[in-house]
Amino acid sequence: MMREIIYSLPEQIREAAGSVPERLFRNRVYDNALICGMGGSGISGEIAAALYPQVRITVNKDYLVPGFVDKKTLAILVSYSGNTEETLANYGQLLRRGIDMVLISSDGKLHKKKAGRKIKVPAGLPPRGALGYLFTPLPMIMRRANLIPRDPRRELQELAAFLAGQRDRIEEMARGLAPGFAGRLIILYADSAAFVPVANRWRCQLNENAKVFAHYNVIPEMNHNEIVGLGRPEKFNPDTSVIFINDPLSHPRNRTRRRLLKSLIGNELPAIVEISPKGKNVMQHMFWAIMLGDFVSYYLALEQGVDPLPVVRIEELKRKLAGHRQKIDKR
Ligand code: PA5
Repeated sequence: MMREIIYSLPEQIREAAGSVPERLFRNRVYDNALICGMGGSGISGEIAAALYPQVRITVNKDYLVPGFVDKKTLAILVSYSGNTEETLANYGQLLRRGIDMVLISSDGKLHKKKAGRKIKVPAGLPPRGALGYLFTPLPMIMRRANLIPRDPRRELQELAAFLAGQRDRIEEMARGLAPGFAGRLIILYADSAAFVPVANRWRCQLNENAKVFAHYNVIPEMNHNEIVGLGRPEKFNPDTSVIFINDPLSHPRNRTRRRLLKSLIGNELPAIVEISPKGKNVMQHMFWAIMLGDFVSYYLALEQGVDPLPVVRIEELKRKLAGHRQKIDKR
């Protein structure tokens, strides 16, 4: 089932591109967006923030919303289940501050809230398998709120068509790559701020589908700290894989940094893989690389004999938290 879910990303994008009502808001003027959400839901906000660097987008992944949020802020709350307590706590604070909200969920408490414009996405998927449904409304909403200048619909439709044309090749590539990562510690590096959410998505999918630990960081920042600790303790090096997820539009200086880094660490960490995304713009590059990571995590799960679907620890922790009655909304 997970394979079909990953494969369905283009259809999700195509379907969701028509799901945002024309008239979302009356006359409010916004100058920034706050996107709240955790895990498989929150990653959609990270991707949107990376895609629209010209807009002030803050991604919130905590119980409290930032103090600067005011009536000029459009808040978008994303929770696939609609029951995530951090996001529900954000709702309460935003409501009290009179902030306009759009609530994206498949159901749950968020969907039953009185305030906020609601967007319902199809139910029955794991949150991380609903990326197309959760991400696509974000640029549409930001356009309706005049936060971005151009209608993103065409770009989204083109993205869906591009991914539909590429997915078989992407899957084939992932099937080839995954066995090389079995039983290994995986370190992911992005070479631009735009690709940080892509590296993070790879990490999350490796964690949740393949049930392995993975780490990510970004060039140039990691050149100023992590580069020193990389490959220590040395005993893990024979079992470590380093994956560079290359942004085709990254700063030329970052590409030079990547090349130099590879030659610096190559002797100690020889298992290096470079990913070169395809596409004609940053949105296509990002989602091409995301789809590859999704498939890699799926085939790595199969390779290691684990079921990609259940995320037992996440659910168990949520169950245990529900048993601890505490005042969540502190403000
Ligand atoms: O992938 C997952 O299951 C998690 O990362 C969830 O997305 C996260 O716990 C938040 O839940 P929800 O997406 O329902 O808000």
